[in-house]
Amino acid sequence: MEAYSDKVMDHFRNPRNVGDIENPDGIGRVGNPVCGDIMELYLRVEKDVITDARFKTFGCGAAIATSSMVTELIKNKTIEEAAKISNRAVAEALGGLPPIKMHCSVLAEEALTKAIEDYRARKRDAGKEG
Ligand code: FES
Repeated sequence: MEAYSDKVMDHFRNPRNVGDIENPDGIGRVGNPVCGDIMELYLRVEKDVITDARFKTFGCGAAIATSSMVTELIKNKTIEEAAKISNRAVAEALGGLPPIKMHCSVLAEEALTKAIEDYRARKRDAGKEG
């Protein structure tokens, strides 16, 4: 399939960080309205740095490759740095996606945004208790 870069094929065939995290510090669950595909992203965060990220994606090859790439991009980044990663940045890191598959990368960006929102909400709640 020459429409896909070698990196996309690599991350599709050997996705990094598949799975979940027990008692995660943040979870993002999203569905793609275009196709119905689903992604879950789990974060482990220590002192506002993402020390681990895992995903489960029920979706197409581009969705799996972008999920895999986003977990690689956000590891060891601060929450603030990770929040700035766009779907375009993920697609670029993969050497590009065919235009018709760009919507697939939106899943990764939205899951990341939700997981960060979830982390921040948990932190706020924990702050209230303490
Ligand atoms: S076709 Fe659904 S995310 Fe790619």
